[in-house]
Amino acid sequence: MNFDRPLDRRSAHSAKWDAMEKLYGISAEEGLAMWLADMDFPAGEFLQNRVRDMLKRENYGYFSERDKFSHATAWWMKNRHDWQIDPAWCFTTHGLGNGIAIGIQTFTEPGDKIAIFTPVYHEFSNKIENAGRAVVELPLTIVDGIYRMDFDAYQALLDGTEKMVLFCSPHNPAGRVWSKQEITELCEFCERNDLILVSDEIHQDLVYSGHKHIPTHTIARGITDKLIVTTSASKTFNIAGTRTGCVTIPDPKMHAKYQQAMIALNIDSSLFGVELGCAAYCAQGAVWADQLVEYLEGNYRIFADGINAIPGASLMPMQGTYLSWADFGGTGMGFEEIKRRVVKVAKIAPTFGPLLGKGGETCMRFNIGTQRATIHAAVDRLQNAFSDLQ
Ligand SMILES: Cc1ncc(COP(=O)(O)O)c(C=O)c1O
Repeated sequence: MNFDRPLDRRSAHSAKWDAMEKLYGISAEEGLAMWLADMDFPAGEFLQNRVRDMLKRENYGYFSERDKFSHATAWWMKNRHDWQIDPAWCFTTHGLGNGIAIGIQTFTEPGDKIAIFTPVYHEFSNKIENAGRAVVELPLTIVDGIYRMDFDAYQALLDGTEKMVLFCSPHNPAGRVWSKQEITELCEFCERNDLILVSDEIHQDLVYSGHKHIPTHTIARGITDKLIVTTSASKTFNIAGTRTGCVTIPDPKMHAKYQQAMIALNIDSSLFGVELGCAAYCAQGAVWADQLVEYLEGNYRIFADGINAIPGASLMPMQGTYLSWADFGGTGMGFEEIKRRVVKVAKIAPTFGPLLGKGGETCMRFNIGTQRATIHAAVDRLQNAFSDLQ
């Protein structure tokens, strides 16, 4: 796969590029879209072939073998992550935002408290608050430059009425790949506090060399009856537009309750999502994913060097994902001035750090899932925008 090959996503129904003007005031012609979490690469040939097969069939009616994606997921998890799952534990949802939202509404009541480790993917708090539940922010601390969870501090922040924790593994933003020890401590924390754990592992395949994703379920011993794991092919294979995710619930009682909610809301899988998800989770997909991760890691190194060369700016060391996290706090500028330089001067659309909660006050999230040439262009633009600091 040639990840350098440009793909013009402008006017091609790409939200990241086409909504940039409306949201950031930057036209797609002059700007660089580095916000929404999808990638700018063309689809893998194995995905294109599956779409061609579908075209040949000329059949888009109700479809059989709807649990095909659960079986493909089980195959992928066993082969890539050494995680044994029973396909019968799985639900196919309309993406993971949907899967997590159903979990929140099924296992908590309005007014209940749900904890998140901030800064984190902003849709977590959006889903919690719009469901009439309350967010409890458990701030991540920075130790040796990277995010860590501090369970002693978190214990003091709980009042005993919290019901659930949403955990992002690997972490969005900054791509922290949590260790076995850290996830074990998280599971113990949940057990001690009687919390349901939702482990969102959507970025699990995007792990850089020297790191390993640990599926929470493989070490969750004491809390498997309170565990929901969400996974998807969407980030790895850039098929988020198919709106398809997998929600794994091993506990029979919880599983039955979630199933009831799925029926009540009439959540059923989509033909395109199932077909493309199955096409992705194959041997060819594994080769593609390995090449992708190598390319992303190369992007990260160039982007990190570029950001770190700006006085007062630093990119948090990444262990995976394509969602980098730059802190401009050392420039002494307030967020509005940082934003002005990034958006108005550099004409780059990032995700604004404060949206992601405590700890994001002077940060920007830059999506580096793009061609190397765009990374170089972004570095040039950002260095120019802050050149008076040199
Ligand atoms: C951690 C995390 N969970 C869930 C999602 C959303 O997934 P979906 O597009 O399947 O709703 C994202 C998208 O960026 C994400 O980063």
